[in-house]
Amino acid sequence: MSVIEVENLTKVFKIPQKDPGLGGAIKGLFAPRFQSKTAVDRINFRLDRGEIVGYIGVNGAGKSTTIKMLTGVLMPTGGSIRVLGRDPHRQRIDNAREIGVVFGQRTQLWWDLALIESLNLIARMYDVPPARYKQMLDEFSQTLDLGSLLKVPVRNMSLGQKMRSELAAALIHEPKVVYLDEPTIGLDLIVKERIRDFIKAECGSKGMTVMLTTHDLGDIEQLCRRVIIIDEGRVIYDGPIETIKKKFGKFREITFETTGLVPSLSLPPGCELLSTGDRKVTLRFDRIQTTASQVASAVMKQIEVRDFSLSEPDLANIVKQIYNGALDNGGVEPEAADARPAP
Ligand SMILES: Nc1ncnc2c1ncn2[C@@H]1O[C@H](COP(=O)(O)OP(=O)(O)OP(=O)(O)O)[C@@H](O)[C@H]1O
Ligand SMILES: [Mg+2]
Repeated sequence: MSVIEVENLTKVFKIPQKDPGLGGAIKGLFAPRFQSKTAVDRINFRLDRGEIVGYIGVNGAGKSTTIKMLTGVLMPTGGSIRVLGRDPHRQRIDNAREIGVVFGQRTQLWWDLALIESLNLIARMYDVPPARYKQMLDEFSQTLDLGSLLKVPVRNMSLGQKMRSELAAALIHEPKVVYLDEPTIGLDLIVKERIRDFIKAECGSKGMTVMLTTHDLGDIEQLCRRVIIIDEGRVIYDGPIETIKKKFGKFREITFETTGLVPSLSLPPGCELLSTGDRKVTLRFDRIQTTASQVASAVMKQIEVRDFSLSEPDLANIVKQIYNGALDNGGVEPEAADARPAP
């Protein structure tokens, strides 16, 4: 049995429509009109024990709505969900004991309480045995560097400090299933790295099943072997990250600022010209065929370079390309779930 089983899951929001003015408000009271918005549209997937799966898609694709239904916060309009054999909405309390949730956009900790007081309360709510709680606190103090934060009220914390605290609060009861909705949003690279390392070590070592929503391809590359991509509420790809990386992630762009006008360049194999400006040139290279340093050294032999920068493929772009059928042989249909790697 899979840990999470989702079948034909659908969520349609009914958004009240109001005509302008007092007349419109009164009319709305007696004859309300609604517009329907299908946020999640008959999606199917299964997650096994120990899988860390990236759930990605552009803004408004339906990721958070899916997570809210999986956690039991929202009731589906159609289809079914089983998390550890339970219906998360009907069996909300039993379900809550087994899951940990982080919504990166919103804190779940008590704003005015010192972190340690929040953690104490959560440990009591989840009946974490005191000895185990102490062990977990010691562990998190190290892995999340929480030591100096324990006495600080959440409202006085920086974004990065809050996020580390949120993770501790979500995982202190060692849940079997973890939902992370944009856990690295707005964080600097160092905190992101720390959080990724923590998720990998903590969730990986305990065989937790993790569903991770993010716009950061780095999160996905470091944590997930499988991704599910949704667009306009529908699953458009479910399979190994490797397939996507091979197809799209092999390219990098490198932009050089030069001191003089850009001549026509001779480029190493696997590298092509994307654009030239007055004192600027952008190249794209296949990093399987060549490296950034090979490209840079070839260019620097031909022109004087003032500065250069490298950029990663953009996730939103990749998703768009996949949506447009760019991954024809990689299993773009929802049924491609079979293509997923073993946990
Ligand atoms: N409570 C709600 N009432 C009405 N519409 C909603 C509600 N919540 C979400 N939606 C709509 O459902 C769609 C999916 O929203 P959702 O928040 O799931 O997207 P998302 O993939 O998480 O996007 P983002 O990357 O911006 O967080 C959007 O069009 C959104 O406007
Ligand atoms: Mg969201």
